[in-house]
Amino acid sequence: MAFPSHRPRRLRMNETIRSMVRETRLSPEQFVYPLFVCAGTGVKKEISSMPGNFQWSIDLLVEEVRRVKSLGIGGIILFGIPEKKDDRASGAYDEHGIIQEAVRALKESVSGILVITDVCLCEYTTNGHCGLISGDEILNDRSVELLALTALSHARAGADIVAPSDMFDGRVGAIRSILDSNGFHNTPILSYAVKYASGYYGPFREAAESAPAFGDRRSHQMDPANALEALREVDLDIQEGADILMVKPAGPYLDVIRMLRDRYPQPLAAYQVSGEYSALMAAGNLGWLDLPRTMMESLIGIRRAGADIILTYFAKEAAEALG
Ligand code: PBG
Ligand code: ZN
Repeated sequence: MAFPSHRPRRLRMNETIRSMVRETRLSPEQFVYPLFVCAGTGVKKEISSMPGNFQWSIDLLVEEVRRVKSLGIGGIILFGIPEKKDDRASGAYDEHGIIQEAVRALKESVSGILVITDVCLCEYTTNGHCGLISGDEILNDRSVELLALTALSHARAGADIVAPSDMFDGRVGAIRSILDSNGFHNTPILSYAVKYASGYYGPFREAAESAPAFGDRRSHQMDPANALEALREVDLDIQEGADILMVKPAGPYLDVIRMLRDRYPQPLAAYQVSGEYSALMAAGNLGWLDLPRTMMESLIGIRRAGADIILTYFAKEAAEALG
């Protein structure tokens, strides 16, 4: 029906009616807040390229996670900064490594919030690569064995969900099988199924001290130009036993989120990464953008594209805004 009978503005005239017809909502239970954990006690060191985010020692991490939980946020994802790195990434699968100790401490003192662990080797290798290296090749199968050991050690420490972020071939299957054969058949795998080789990870690499010393991650992470390839990656991860799928970054890949939402029934997560956060923060701090508003708009866009779960450095501010 044409104007003047049809007036879409009728449903926008005040907040009460806008709220009633709203199609998409955000809720803190579906946020996952990333946290960086380091050695020592009493450490809370700000990450300069990610204002408001810190490297936390375990004692202060526990207090921070209590605050995060009190905001109604559903989960945290942990990244570790080990005291020592080596060629074999031994800190990643050490039963007394930084993540394993942090998970144990959290499980002893905070309940009702999911503790998710990122499973990768790049924070633990001297050269900052996600796997073992031979010449200039990043090795797949031998790295996958170490990733499986890493995931198992996280599960043993009490992780609620393990989240492999490496993008090597076959790692979800290897992790599923090592978890199952050690009695962790109830530990879900949140797979970074579709992770792009992105410039938006820059600030994270400062935060996690994981920048590659040479080369880049293009031989394992996906080409930003590809969308159909995401379907093949997701098919494989589902066959191998992924419980939750993830797309990363989020904002520049909303089409991929929507495509996966339309084709797969699995829970879908999206990671609004460090560079997406830092870019908005910087523009907000310069007064070029209204930060509270654009923050919420960026998150609702990710939900509208079809993500159920959002990993975001804005989790606390957004949860507060949602009241
Ligand atoms: C480790 C990992 C990275 C991120 C999450 N897990 C960095 C990378 O792949 O270089 C990035 C997260 C962010 O930028 O917020 N593989
Ligand atoms: Zn990595």
